[in-house]
Amino acid sequence: MSKILVTGGIGYIGSHTVVELYNAGYTPIIVDNLSNSNIKILDQIEKIIGVKPEFHQFDLCDIQQTASFIAANPDITGIIHFAASKAVGESVADPLKYYHNNFFSLINLLNAYREKEINFVFSSSCTVYGEPDILPVTESAPVKKATSPYGNTKQIAEEILEEIAGAYGNYNIIALRYFNPVGAHQSALIGELPNGVPQNLLPFITQTAIGKREKLTVFGNDYDTPDGSCIRDYIHVVDLAKAHVAAIKLLERGNPNGKYDVFNVGTGNGYSVLEAIKAFEKASGQPLKYEFGPKRDGDIIQVWGDVNKSSTELGWKAELGIDEMMASAWAWEKYIHENPLD
Ligand code: NAD
Ligand code: WQD
Repeated sequence: MSKILVTGGIGYIGSHTVVELYNAGYTPIIVDNLSNSNIKILDQIEKIIGVKPEFHQFDLCDIQQTASFIAANPDITGIIHFAASKAVGESVADPLKYYHNNFFSLINLLNAYREKEINFVFSSSCTVYGEPDILPVTESAPVKKATSPYGNTKQIAEEILEEIAGAYGNYNIIALRYFNPVGAHQSALIGELPNGVPQNLLPFITQTAIGKREKLTVFGNDYDTPDGSCIRDYIHVVDLAKAHVAAIKLLERGNPNGKYDVFNVGTGNGYSVLEAIKAFEKASGQPLKYEFGPKRDGDIIQVWGDVNKSSTELGWKAELGIDEMMASAWAWEKYIHENPLD
């Protein structure tokens, strides 16, 4: 079956996608520089699928290494490009790191396919919508000025990909706009491995529940929402991984929408922070210690996706609900607490 390059495949979403590609009969091949992941995840993937995927460790910002790798692997028919820096706060403090890493890796990959047909799936983000005027937000909603260098790299990357697709004819591209990925594989052998203090809600919740953090601070309780806390479209990372398999399949069939397309990847349901906490307490069977604190700069008040296009044209729909998201996140936290990878 087709060999699919998974850049960033040792990372959170990439590792789950490697599993789902294998399950769908594809041969995943991973490139990752391990700048934000642990090589032991490769062993964990092997425990799940029974084979160790081919892995190459190098920085995709290195022109020579990227070009040589692609030339040495002519049987790669598709690329799923996860490799990027993704911490919003860090991007504000160190924008050059983000512009360098996220653009050089993308351009090097694209340049290596000047002469060859390639199916290309890009990791984008609902962050491109900013605070949508209309909810649920559709793919045709206006892209708003990014509120962080990280978000800007996703917006500009989408523009680059649309132009490339139109200019050359050998790039078949889909950008997937993820909402909020959470949870872990049902085996609890892979999951999110945040570096240091988690910036995202779910790992902070699970680390508080396991006793690694004293308490969760809910950033704001007087937003203009039913319970005063922000609303997000949380999506199970396994559903998200399956959306990438669906995108590769669509590109292999030939996308009737043309050489560049965009899909929202969410559940279409919004949950507030307080509702997420309640769902976690139900799934874990224990109360969560939290308190209210000041609003976090740059936070969107509410965003959730219209996922009809993904259902009708991508042929993908989320299947797992908030209970499975929370239960899997908790199972992974307990596993990694008892079996630290490093
Ligand atoms: P992650 O940090 O867990 O995975 C990214 C992987 O890419 C890491 O293993 C890292 O070592 C690798 N990498 C980074 N730069 C590289 C380079 N130059 N060369 C080779 N490898 C490199 O992040 P994730 O949460 O799995 O996100 C994957 C993608 O999805 C990113 O592009 C991110 O922007 C996007 N995304 C993530 C979220 C989210 O909430 N996690 C939401 C929307 C979009
Ligand atoms: C969710 C909600 C917080 C932590 C970010 C990036 C986005 C994408 C996904 C990469 C918000 C609240 C959080 C905490 C809290 N990443 N919260 N206390 O901000 O929606 O999206 O991750 O592409 O680009 O912006 O996710 O998990 O940080 O926050 O109250 O300790 O939880 O205010 O309302 P966010 P998040």
